[in-house]
Amino acid sequence: MKKFNLYSICFVLLLVVLLKQHPSKAQQPYVNNNQINCDQDLNITNGFKCNGVETSCQSYLTFRSTPAYGSPLSIGQLLGANISFAEINNFTTSQIISTDTQTVIPVNCSCLGEHYQHNSSYQVLAYDTFFTIANDNYQGLTTCQAIKLQNPHITVETLSAGVNVNVPLRCACPTPNQTASGFKYLLTYMITWGDDISTIADLFGADKQSILDANELFEDSIIYPFTPLLVPLKVLFEHTDRLALRKPISMWANRWWIWLIVTIGGIIIALLCFLYHSKWKKQKAEGERKKKQKILVMELGGNAITCN
Ligand SMILES: *[C@@H]1O[C@H](CO)[C@@H](O)[C@H](O)[C@H]1NC(C)=O
Ligand SMILES: *[C@@H]1O[C@H](CO)[C@@H](O)[C@H](O)[C@H]1NC(C)=O
Ligand SMILES: *[C@@H]1O[C@H](CO)[C@@H](O)[C@H](O)[C@H]1NC(C)=O
Ligand SMILES: *[C@@H]1O[C@H](CO)[C@@H](O)[C@H](O)[C@H]1NC(C)=O
Ligand SMILES: *[C@@H]1O[C@H](CO)[C@@H](O)[C@H](O)[C@H]1NC(C)=O
Ligand SMILES: *[C@@H]1O[C@H](CO)[C@@H](O)[C@H](O)[C@H]1NC(C)=O
Repeated sequence: MKKFNLYSICFVLLLVVLLKQHPSKAQQPYVNNNQINCDQDLNITNGFKCNGVETSCQSYLTFRSTPAYGSPLSIGQLLGANISFAEINNFTTSQIISTDTQTVIPVNCSCLGEHYQHNSSYQVLAYDTFFTIANDNYQGLTTCQAIKLQNPHITVETLSAGVNVNVPLRCACPTPNQTASGFKYLLTYMITWGDDISTIADLFGADKQSILDANELFEDSIIYPFTPLLVPLKVLFEHTDRLALRKPISMWANRWWIWLIVTIGGIIIALLCFLYHSKWKKQKAEGERKKKQKILVMELGGNAITCN
């Protein structure tokens, strides 16, 4: 439950990222932050619309390794993905992946009714809720609304340890417009703290405007951590070498100015301490000198010799 609270706080704090530019052609509306309210069932929370040229295609998901999902086997199981995804991420299949490592996972995506989805399944643990499964375990790759919809036989009351739930993960196939522009794959990127569309575009060598278009976003739209963003790709994603930022992206990573302030603050405090210490030492030395002089004067005074 601790993790649940953390994520709730994260959602409340909502690190917002501002963009600017033009309106765009309709593709897939961005989920905004509608996935938070499990009781509010909107079309947008159930998945990306089945509006592509193909009803089934190869697509990509992104996932950040956690202590619980820190190996290709556990991530592959969680996401219903072929473990061979390890290769394009430069992992061996048995390797432990350091926490918070960005991984790219190829999955098959297909239409089920009105929405695209990639099927996976999850075995419920004690204290899990639809909310924590969607937003914590799956990092926002699915929504509590979509899980509820595809597991009509499971209710909040019957959701208990050991139960298997079908988990539809968000994915999509290129629309006619995207196909016409040469895009072949859509990658579901999970936004994290400090991201903006430009950094995400740079990460995948993608075009910023094509990302805005793909998500029906504008330059001044706000994007939220733990929400999926579609990144259109023209070529097969072959290796995470292509990720410009291979390093784990943490909340503080591109907050360089915080470290600058902390460093400068540290230097100033150190300097003040040093100055104070020197002054104190000097005063102490002075005091000592005066004391000695006094004793000397008294001693000498006894001999009736005046000093100065
Ligand atoms: C496709 O692009 C054209 C012009 O580029 C635009 O008018 C049209 O609305 C777009 N259609 C969709 C479904 O995005
Ligand atoms: C959801 O989709 C259905 C079918 O396309 C449509 O009839 C309905 O109005 C949509 N609901 C919302 C809230 O957009
Ligand atoms: C996983 O991928 C490998 C290589 O791409 C393939 O040979 C194997 O059949 C796949 N396994 C499944 C279960 O799809
Ligand atoms: C891939 O992994 C190998 C061995 O772990 C390492 O030497 C190499 O630098 C890695 N390549 C990249 C691009 O991370
Ligand atoms: C997608 O499905 C095809 C056949 O249905 C399979 O051969 C392929 O390995 C799958 N791809 C992934 C990434 O799971
Ligand atoms: C995904 O799961 C649903 C049931 O939740 C099923 O109807 C559908 O056929 C599955 N799709 C694929 C591609 O296996």
